[in-house]
Amino acid sequence: MQTFDVTDYATRFAGKSSAIKRPREITYFSYDEDHILRHDESSLRYYYTPDLNVDLSQGYSNFIKHDDSTDEHLDSLLDALVELERKEGKSSTDGVHFVTWRGMMTKIMTVPFLEDGFEMNAVFHEGTIFIEENNLYKQSTRGFQDERGARMSFWGYKFETLSTLSKTWDDATREEIEGRTNDIVNNKAQYCSIVQTGFGDSGLIIAGEVDAIWDCRPMNPANPINYVELKTSRQITSMNQQINFEKKLQRFWAQSFLLGVPKIIIGFRDDYGILKSLEIKETQGIPTEIRKAHVAQGLGPPPWNGNVAINFTTTFLEWLKGVLAGKDGVWRIRYQQRGSQIEVFQVQDTGYAGVLTDRFLAWRKE
Ligand code: A3P
Ligand code: MG
Ligand code: MG
Repeated sequence: MQTFDVTDYATRFAGKSSAIKRPREITYFSYDEDHILRHDESSLRYYYTPDLNVDLSQGYSNFIKHDDSTDEHLDSLLDALVELERKEGKSSTDGVHFVTWRGMMTKIMTVPFLEDGFEMNAVFHEGTIFIEENNLYKQSTRGFQDERGARMSFWGYKFETLSTLSKTWDDATREEIEGRTNDIVNNKAQYCSIVQTGFGDSGLIIAGEVDAIWDCRPMNPANPINYVELKTSRQITSMNQQINFEKKLQRFWAQSFLLGVPKIIIGFRDDYGILKSLEIKETQGIPTEIRKAHVAQGLGPPPWNGNVAINFTTTFLEWLKGVLAGKDGVWRIRYQQRGSQIEVFQVQDTGYAGVLTDRFLAWRKE
């Protein structure tokens, strides 16, 4: 077993943030309303301001919910890479050291300041380390969801339905815009963006769900895309809620930073799930905003620091490359609790244990 020490993170990883690249989209894919993979942008949604004072519980009993207990590995991401490589006639992973879901990178980036543990599986193949979530761990640590928890989870999806259209607003009819409160909420449909990015000397391909686009895709593909992340949160009426919200913001920020999503739109709701207000935040400005607010209110240091998160990630990825590059078999990356160590150890001598698909391996052999 090899270990990466994460104690004293705040001082060890302080300073100006290491060189990071602006994420550049290389391809995208959709899941349709039955969660069938499509290599297109058919499930991309367009942001359009929702009405306030709407009940986010409306339609809860008709929710079409994706069963996320099955292990989807990296399957659709790998399929999208095969599709891209076929189209472009070249490998998509030249200079790319890591391929993973955005969710895995969010977990890594937030290690210095959040409590959650994780387990991931990693394999090395033709110069690149592929990382997936260890689904058994995910299922075993998932807490019991009671009726209120299920309803609150629905509120998030309902907010997405209320805030988006399937086409740009100028193509949508009044009926479509006003009828959004009655649209069936279905979280099987998703749109995912795949970007190439970098932390220090590590090149990465990261894929993640994107909730919507602010306007439309730019004519010039070199220009950044105005994607939007939608979130709901409890209205802030006490100091405790303020502290909770600032903690949550770290995850919101990391998630959006990783894919280069420039805007986060937060729908604040009350305890009964009534949408009360909206706030539009620029992802890039969030760490500074929190720092300034803490200084202004004499609250002491902020609960997290973006530069530390970035530097930590850069250092950890560099170390992980050293541990896994050129190695056979399947490896586990495990983080059990805050302030301990990230452990990396081999769980299988050979093979890929489902981390890589037969289809991807066969394509690469061609
Ligand atoms: P909120 O984030 O507004 O609560 P995402 O914001 O990542 O696009 O996720 C969309 C919604 O999925 C969330 O909306 C939340 O309702 C639900 N969701 C995401 N992760 C969840 C989890 N671990 N448990 C329960 N619901 C979750
Ligand atoms: Mg989403
Ligand atoms: Mg969202």
